[in-house]
Parts: sequence; C-alpha cells; structure tokens
Amino acid sequence: MSASNPTSAKIRVLIVDDIIETRENVKKLLYFENDIEIIGTASNGREGVEMASKLQPDVVLMDINMPEMDGIAASEAISAQSPNIQVVMMSVQGEADYLRRSMLAGAREFLIKPFSGEELVTSIHRVNQFAAARRVMAPPPPPTGVAATPPPPPPKGGRVVAVFGTKGGSGASTIAVNLAVALREESKGRIALIDANLEFGDIGVLLNLPSNRTIADLAGNKADLDEEVLDGTMASHSTTIKVLLAPPRPELAELVKPEHLKRILDLLDKTYDYIVVDLWKSFQESTIFFLDQADVIVMLSTTDIPAIKNAKLFFELTEQLGYPAEKTIFVLNKDDGRSGISAKDIEASIKHPIGGILPKDERTTLVAINRGVPFVAAQKTIPLSQAVLNLARVIIRRTHPEKEPASAPEKSGAARRK
Ligand SMILES: Nc1ncnc2c1ncn2[C@@H]1O[C@H](COP(=O)(O)OP(=O)(O)OP(=O)(O)O)[C@@H](O)[C@H]1O
Ligand SMILES: [Mg+2]
Repeated sequence: MSASNPTSAKIRVLIVDDIIETRENVKKLLYFENDIEIIGTASNGREGVEMASKLQPDVVLMDINMPEMDGIAASEAISAQSPNIQVVMMSVQGEADYLRRSMLAGAREFLIKPFSGEELVTSIHRVNQFAAARRVMAPPPPPTGVAATPPPPPPKGGRVVAVFGTKGGSGASTIAVNLAVALREESKGRIALIDANLEFGDIGVLLNLPSNRTIADLAGNKADLDEEVLDGTMASHSTTIKVLLAPPRPELAELVKPEHLKRILDLLDKTYDYIVVDLWKSFQESTIFFLDQADVIVMLSTTDIPAIKNAKLFFELTEQLGYPAEKTIFVLNKDDGRSGISAKDIEASIKHPIGGILPKDERTTLVAINRGVPFVAAQKTIPLSQAVLNLARVIIRRTHPEKEPASAPEKSGAARRK
C-alpha cells in the first residue's frame, strides 16, 4: 500500500524518466487501464526520490540513465526510505549488467525498452500483488514508539529447523533430507523430517520410501491424534531418521489444516531432538506456520540474480513478521564459483551474512536420488557432504549453545567460498 491506498483503490504509479517522449508514451500505454493511475512524473533520479517520498506511490517506473541521479541510485534510495514502494526498472537492451545492479539496488522488475502495453501492465500488477501479499502477511504496525512484538518463542524440547528455498529447484528438499541425516550424525539425537510441501512433496522419492501412510492420514479428528497414531504414520529410513511424508495426491493437501500441523509439531516436540521441515516456496498458511515455529530457518539460495532478489524479499518479509535476523541462516547452494557475483556483493545486497556455502555436485545428487540414499549417508567425505555436516554443526551450536559438538569447527574450508 501506499499508506493511504486501500486494496480496492487504483494502483498509484510514478514515472521517472528524463525523456519526455518516454513519459508520454508510458502514460498512453496505461491510459485505458482502469485500475492504474499516474500520480506524477519526474525527470531525474533526485526528483524521483523526492516525489516518491512525498506521494508514496505503489509503483515507480524508473529509467536508468538520467542526469543528476541515475535510476539505480534512486532505486536504492527509494527502497531504503520506503520499502513498500515497488520499483520497476526500464532500460534498453544490451545493458545486462544494469539488470544485475538494479536488482541488487532493490528493483522488483526489469522492463526492456521498447516494451508493450501488456508487458508494462503485467509488471505493474505483479509487483503490486507482491506488495499486497506482503501487507496480508505483515502484522499491523505497532503504535509509534512501541517495538514490534515478536511471535512467542517456540516451546522448548525438540528444535525445529525449517528449510526454505528462495525459488523452485534451489535444492530445499535435497538439503532438508541430507541435513536431517547430518543432524543425526552430529548430534546423535532423534530426528524427524516433515515433508511440508503438501501438494507436491517429493521426500518419499528422495528417500525411496513407500507412501502408504502420509500426513493426510492424520487430518481427521484432532482428538484422535496421539503419539502412537503419529508414530505409526511416520516412515522409518535406514539412516534411523523418521519421516512424515506428504499426501500422495495434491488434492489431499487441503485436508491438512493448521490445527493438525500444530498438534503434530507438539507431539513430535516431545519425542525428537530435531524436527527438520522441508517447506514449499510459496507463502501459504502452512509455510508461515512452520516459519513461525522454527528455531532456525535455513534459507537456501542459488547464486543467480532472481534467487538473490527473492532472498532479499524474504528477509524483508521475515523482518516484518518480527523474526530476529539471527533466526535465519542464509546458505548458498549449487555454488560453482561461476556466477560472476561475489559472496561480498551478495551479503551487501541482502544485508545478511552468508552462513554456509554448498558446492554444486550434480553427479552426487543424481546418484543419491537414483539410489534413494542421502549423500551424507553414502559418501560422507565428499565436499558437498562435508559442507552439509558443517551446516548441521552450525545449527547445533545455535540451538544448543551449551553443547559444543565434538568434531570440526564451524568455519571449516568446505563452507567458505574460496
Ligand atoms: N548442491 C547441489 N549440486 C547439484 N545439484 C543439486 C544440489 N542441490 C540440489 N541439486 C539438484 O537440484 C534439483 C532441485 O533440487 P530439489 O528438488 O531439492 O529442490 P527444491 O528447492 O526442493 O525444488 P522444488 O521447488 O521442486 O521443491 C535436483 O535435481 C537436485 O538434485
Ligand atoms: Mg522441494
């Protein structure tokens, strides 16, 4: 929202471009859109920042090359000043480096000139939808002068480790499975793994487990759900971790309500030392539930710009949800040192330290899937397994500062980028 814009109102747009024809052209493209309103135009970055601060638009359409202050510096200033304002960058083709810099500066979308009316309108709607989703998730702002109240601390007992990927295919399921085995290895405790990708969970496939009993079987009467029933529903893997699988068909997902998840977590909490949860990347109710309950969130990102952009959004969201920054461990996955973006740039962009780096190893992950055996169990000494074991040690140290794990220190070579 701009502070004054209710959801039903028009999307308020500010155009920032030094070329008058472009400003007029963009206006024309949006002329017939009933739900979009141009509330102002600015002819350079500095003017754009001032007008954005005064008018609080929902969306700023920003050119890059402009006199006085360029669009990248202006986006940075606007994102820092008013994180709710969505910046859409507009630039000409052949400026690939600009795309990277714009996203790192906080822009949400990048339009390549010349763009069609449809592309422009789609972008505006998409970034506005993102902002709307964020408003729904964010708790109401605290009265001025009062700090936001963080969610109540999770009950003491088992520690919940939620694994979340910034975009599809980041490796969340792969790493959740291997992290569960690594936590077992390093803590010698009891480990449960929940496949919380309720619609399309694939932990059963990754661990080669039959899916005859799943979380959907627990979705009946909450009163009937006790430790014995839960235990009978969990599948046992040869590594001794116990797994609560996702429903076999997507339409069964909706049977599982937050009240069931709460009951399941309360029961697991009594029996297990670590409960690892593989999350689906969308911010649905069950995802927020597990993120809230987590003692540690492992946020996995690949090293490409869209993934890093999403990581940045994730931190903005969790900050609004009142999570302390140290609740999340930001981990780069599939790192091969070839993305052209340095670890330092990534940290500067997301304003959060990198807590672990997992190397890219396609062969190992493929063999592990085909055999249904996690690589941490089958090939403990390879760099990828070592990096996951190292991550497990970091988590143990965070969740049980009183216990120092026996083996290697946190910052062993495997988790640091060369
Ligand atoms: N470190 C790695 N090196 C190479 N490949 C990897 C690595 N980690 C994961 N992968 C591969 O990436 C692909 C996606 O992994 P995975 O299914 O775990 O991701 P996900 O984030 O759970 O995806 P989804 O969005 O479908 O849930 C798989 O083929 C997996 O083997
Ligand atoms: Mg997955």
